[in-house]
Amino acid sequence: MGLLEGKTVFITGGAAGQGRAHAQASAREGADVILVDMADPASGAYDETVAGVEAHGRQALALQGNVTSQADLDAAVGAGIERFGKIDAVIANAGIHRSGLFWEQSEEDWNAVMDVNLNGVWKTVKAVAPHFIERQSGSVVLISSVDAYDPESESTAYGVTKTAVLGLLKYLAYELAPHGARVNAVAPGFIDTAMVNSQEFYDILAGGPGLGTRQHLVDYVHKFTAMKDVSMLDAIEVANTAVYLNSGLAQYVTGVCIPVDAGHLLVKRGEDNLVH
Ligand SMILES: NC(=O)c1ccc[n+]([C@@H]2O[C@H](COP(=O)([O-])OP(=O)(O)OC[C@H]3O[C@@H](n4cnc5c(N)ncnc54)[C@H](O)[C@@H]3O)[C@@H](O)[C@H]2O)c1
Repeated sequence: MGLLEGKTVFITGGAAGQGRAHAQASAREGADVILVDMADPASGAYDETVAGVEAHGRQALALQGNVTSQADLDAAVGAGIERFGKIDAVIANAGIHRSGLFWEQSEEDWNAVMDVNLNGVWKTVKAVAPHFIERQSGSVVLISSVDAYDPESESTAYGVTKTAVLGLLKYLAYELAPHGARVNAVAPGFIDTAMVNSQEFYDILAGGPGLGTRQHLVDYVHKFTAMKDVSMLDAIEVANTAVYLNSGLAQYVTGVCIPVDAGHLLVKRGEDNLVH
């Protein structure tokens, strides 16, 4: 019997990256999943994630929606409850990154990051909270980042939202606790997804346009993992921690954030982290 047998898990940003791993790990543990993502259905991302869920004998409801829209999230929660009868857990995973030194960053980029990574998380939990309160149970997992604890190059907007997620964690957990619902977070280190595997980021690390390769990223991340022989982690490592937090094993765990970072936060970043 799986750790999430018979549960339904609602995942934002569920079509790809870590969201796909959350869907597959939840299904592996016996849950059906609802995926909300803004990806283009023509990309095939939803189909791949749904196939991964069905491979575990579970069902997936894939919906296109934007976490910046309360209407999209409310509709997705409604559709999920109609299909599966209930929602037991939420993983507020959708997030974006926009690089740039803070004094060069456009207001448009700043606002986009705030809107998805902070406001979108609040809207996601807001959409499902009445259902949890009605059922007097539920589990929420927020996705923060090691960048909430430790500054990252050209990542002020992103790091500020991931720090704010930890503030949100405290308040959401506090307000939902009397209703039997729990709220926790995971702070991933560098995870091997499209978010970090961009030419733009490779170039920042290499110090100029067109100079960067994936190897620059692998070498850079390796410096920030205390555990041996590790660079970026696979998304399943984050998903396995979310499984634990959403399971009965964590029934009295609330208001905490668990780093999944191979000891990244144990390594002091100094000048190495500044891209000059
Ligand atoms: N990759 C990392 O190293 C890393 C480290 C720490 C934290 N995180 C966080 O983990 C989470 C997942 O990131 P990832 O690495 O899978 O990134 P990713 O870019 O690979 O995937 C993000 C997914 O979210 C979706 N998405 C983006 N904006 C959306 C919106 N407005 N509405 C709905 N869906 C949206 C995308 O379509 C995509 O499917 C994010 O919150 C990210 O900030 C990532």
